[in-house]
Amino acid sequence: MNTDTGSTFQHPDRNLGMELVRATEAAAIRAVPFIGRGDKNAADGAAVDAMRKFLGTVDFDGLVVIGEGEKDAAPMLYNGEHVGTGQGQACDIAVDPIDGTSLTAAGRQNALSMIAVADRGSMYDPSAVFYMDKIVTGHEGHGVVDLRKPIGENIRALAKAMNKNVSDLVVAVLDRPRHMQLIEDIREAGAGTRLLLDGDVAGGINAARYDARIDMCVGRGGTPEGIITACALKGLGGFIQAKLAPQNDEERQKAVDAGHDLERILEIDDLVTSDNTYFVATGVTDGQLVGGVRKKGPIIRTESIVLRGRSGTIRRVVADHLAEKWL
Ligand code: FBP
Repeated sequence: MNTDTGSTFQHPDRNLGMELVRATEAAAIRAVPFIGRGDKNAADGAAVDAMRKFLGTVDFDGLVVIGEGEKDAAPMLYNGEHVGTGQGQACDIAVDPIDGTSLTAAGRQNALSMIAVADRGSMYDPSAVFYMDKIVTGHEGHGVVDLRKPIGENIRALAKAMNKNVSDLVVAVLDRPRHMQLIEDIREAGAGTRLLLDGDVAGGINAARYDARIDMCVGRGGTPEGIITACALKGLGGFIQAKLAPQNDEERQKAVDAGHDLERILEIDDLVTSDNTYFVATGVTDGQLVGGVRKKGPIIRTESIVLRGRSGTIRRVVADHLAEKWL
């Protein structure tokens, strides 16, 4: 019997994500002493430092497209910095050493360390617009859900496509005053809400995963997080639409000067044009996507997820690290 039919089987190649995961593991581990200590910048600084060190060992030519900010303000992992050994695949890289710095500082759940990578030149450059409006669902949302439509209509359409009752639908939203009306409208439509303290990347990924409780993630959140989510969704077949939401005239002007159409609905292929994407994340504190860093005697245990766009592979990586080598 000839079983050599699958393309992944016929042309196996390197999975860069399996090497990048060491960098998110390192960032998560080094953030541990800062969990619940009230200093989000110190937590972020430790994670940035560790992530950069480990990225330096990976054979790729990474250009930070979404990093810790402009060079002058961010000493490491700044936008435009090259990371990796410089050997091998030329990539764009988006880093978020801790998504949920406030969660980490407070000792709350759902903080993650994450990296997204895609072919060079394929990630959207938001040119200093900090927020975007987003809607994320699983594959059922394609051709069904639309950011331009009222939320109630989207909820009813998604429920139908998922063969669910509207009352069974769970919609994740960042718990912010700006979302008061949106939250009311979701409940008015008959769906339930999951209010997120922070972390709409995990919210979006959970909306697209077939085995999570969330069906949709919607609302205004970080633009970098939108692009990172898009990279992850390539591997999950998920749906995302987004629209830039500049907060003041300066941001608006910068975006217009950079050639952005502020009315444009950005589809997944606008946020990242390549399908050759990787998304890796390690839990800092416990969350629905992965567990947080745990100390067990002489061991530090990390839990990570590695998504690959091209093959659609999702790996869960549990690693035990010798504590004495790390803290
Ligand atoms: P940081 O940890 O980098 O601050 O981001 C957390 C986060 O909740 C993101 O997941 C989200 O996209 C963004 O902040 C929302 O922004 P804001 O907190 O200003 O509403």
